[in-house]
Parts: sequence; structure tokens; C-alpha cells
Amino acid sequence: MPTVSIEGFSELFQVDEEETLFDALDNCGHELPHSCLAGTCGTCKVIILTGQDNLSPPSELEKMTIQAIKQNYNRIHGKNSLANQTIRLACQAKILQGDVKIKILN
Ligand code: FES
Repeated sequence: MPTVSIEGFSELFQVDEEETLFDALDNCGHELPHSCLAGTCGTCKVIILTGQDNLSPPSELEKMTIQAIKQNYNRIHGKNSLANQTIRLACQAKILQGDVKIKILN
């Protein structure tokens, strides 16, 4: 059974495969920030610290939303502020296998 850990939290969440990160953590009693749950608002954005290969590939919609998030961050925090970071939407990224460590991106 895969596990998900969140930077800043000591708890290790055991989750089912094929669930989104959001659903998996919600089922464990840990609700991530969210709004649309449809991949368009970006509220559920997280940085994948480890285990990015254990997640489903992003859809075109998720890629577009992440691109908008990065552009917004660059505008506010400076160019390339999220360079070399793997950003995913927790409501879209499914856990396929293996463990994942995330950081909530505010
Ligand atoms: S909650 Fe809106 S993109 Fe995930």
C-alpha cells in the first residue's frame, strides 16, 4: 500500500492506488486546500518532493493550469521562482504505485 507524506507533518498516510492525492488524503482525514476539484482553479497545487514517477501523468488541462500557476508565481515572486519544481494538482494526480512526498504550495 503506497504512502503519502506531507512536508511539515509527521504523519504518514497509507493510501489506496488509483486515488487522486486529494481523495487519498481526504479519506485519511487530511483535507488539502481545494475549490473546484476539477483541475481548473489551482487551489490544490502541491510540489512533489519525491515519487513523481508514482503518479499519473498530467492531463492537458492540468498542464495548462500548472502553467498559469507558474506564470503567476513568477510574476509575484520573481522569474523562475518555481524552476526545477514538480508542481501537480492534488485533485488530478492519481497515485499509481509507490510512495509520494508532497509540500503544500500556498
Ligand atoms: S481544487 Fe481546483 S484544481 Fe484542484
